Amino acid sequence: MLFTLILYSIILILIITFIIIYVKQYEYFKARQIPGPTPSYFFGNVKTLWNAESPSRQLVEWSKQFGKIYGIFEGTRPHYIVSDVDFLQEVFIKQFSHFPIRKTTIFSKALNKGKRIHLFSALGTRWKRQRNVINPTFSAVKLKQMSPLINNCINELMKKLPDYSEKHEDFNIYVLYKRLTMDVICRCAFGVDTDMQNNPDNIYLKKVGQAFSVNFQNMPLFKLGTLVPPVGVIVGDLFIFQNKVRQKLNQLFPSTIKKFEPIPGTWIMARVGEVIEMRSDVAKQRVDLLQLMLEAASREQIKDKKDDVDEQYIAKKLTYDEVIANVFLFMIAGYETTSTALAYCTYVLANHPEEQLKLQEEIDEYLLQNEDEEDPDYDVINRMPYMDMVIKEVLRMHPIAISGIMNRECTQETDICGIKITKGAIVQPDVYSIHYDQELWGPQDVNNFCPERHLTKRHPLAFLAFGVGPRNYYHSHISYYHLNL
Ligand code: HEM
Repeated sequence: MLFTLILYSIILILIITFIIIYVKQYEYFKARQIPGPTPSYFFGNVKTLWNAESPSRQLVEWSKQFGKIYGIFEGTRPHYIVSDVDFLQEVFIKQFSHFPIRKTTIFSKALNKGKRIHLFSALGTRWKRQRNVINPTFSAVKLKQMSPLINNCINELMKKLPDYSEKHEDFNIYVLYKRLTMDVICRCAFGVDTDMQNNPDNIYLKKVGQAFSVNFQNMPLFKLGTLVPPVGVIVGDLFIFQNKVRQKLNQLFPSTIKKFEPIPGTWIMARVGEVIEMRSDVAKQRVDLLQLMLEAASREQIKDKKDDVDEQYIAKKLTYDEVIANVFLFMIAGYETTSTALAYCTYVLANHPEEQLKLQEEIDEYLLQNEDEEDPDYDVINRMPYMDMVIKEVLRMHPIAISGIMNRECTQETDICGIKITKGAIVQPDVYSIHYDQELWGPQDVNNFCPERHLTKRHPLAFLAFGVGPRNYYHSHISYYHLNL
């Protein structure tokens, strides 16, 4: 009897202690005198974001209410939502070593246990090693070598457009840009001569489209995993496991392929693996990202040492699995972003005929001066300042790749602008509020399309369309190049 009583008392004390610790976590921002919307127990503030028509717009609403630095909770995990550019400069650039990763999710954790890890989700020294190898593949010289591949795709689109205009019917140019972008990526990333613009049923286009149509974040299990991290770890592992089982069943019983079809990402990576096998016979004939990465690939296992090792000891190698994962990443990272940006550029220019004319004049001027050159290449694009300003202004007004991407997780406690940030806390810029901040982007009205505002030097953190800091920097080459052509 006494024993049972003691046991019940201990359990009760444990439960009460757990509740106190749990509830106390919601004091995190109050203790730092940082304002924010009131969280509800268990959910924090995510229910509001899940129900919002646009989570980014919800952040803007809260920024108006609570100011440039405020706090919200995902479950019990604190998120600093920031539109103070000096604070962000500390996080993304000056104190990058304390914020070297994006927010870890149940999937990034599960993926990091496996072999197929790409730049986007790689952590620590693995990320540094991958960047060391991959950065040179995005050099201006290498991109220049890819010009013919890109120009061929553009020429295909140019052949199609007159048909549409002659018919005087509405058509959706976004669809054409998606096909174009996927063609460019497949040719530049892994040398598959796709012709999606003439063959819209192409299987790669379908698979990448499917990869985007599945929104894991809306799935109830993913949501539960986000709110209760230990459940998340199990969900992530289960997801990886069931995908491996599907793959195996698919290999063993190909006739039932529909049922056990691997998820689109796994399917694409399997195709990249096949291309690599074929490459061993015809090596060095192509100049594409796959070939450039294969030159640094090793069949041996690469052991990354601790995070703080000296740069010079980081191996300049990738495993074959990492090459496959990164080719997949380029397809995913370049497809939606570039095609959506092109669609926005078209939309904005159609609504601003004067600016469109100016841009056309800049292009015509170049073409007049270089009549004998065939297609414009990387150097030419760099000589078009108005083009540069137009693209920047479109992406200032319509930043596309922001939710879930532009954030950093604190890996080591630190002080930012007098605020103590603890390990595990997330810092997320409110990109819309920053891009529409009159103080940062004036004197012209921030709601007006005005490419010339980019002639004025702005705060280094005022423009976030391509991200910022060491986890971003080669975008200035690749994205501009793809967008400009
Ligand atoms: C208009 C086009 C594009 C936009 C707006 C865009 C935007 C972004 C943004 C906002 C990030 C997060 C950066 C950060 O966290 O600071 C990112 C990361 C990344 N993007 Fe893009 N992107 C574009 C095109 C591309 C293309 C064409 C590729 C490759 C072919 C690419 C590859 C990547 C990679 C590999 C990362 C992760 C880098 C790392 O963590 O080290 N992106 N992108």
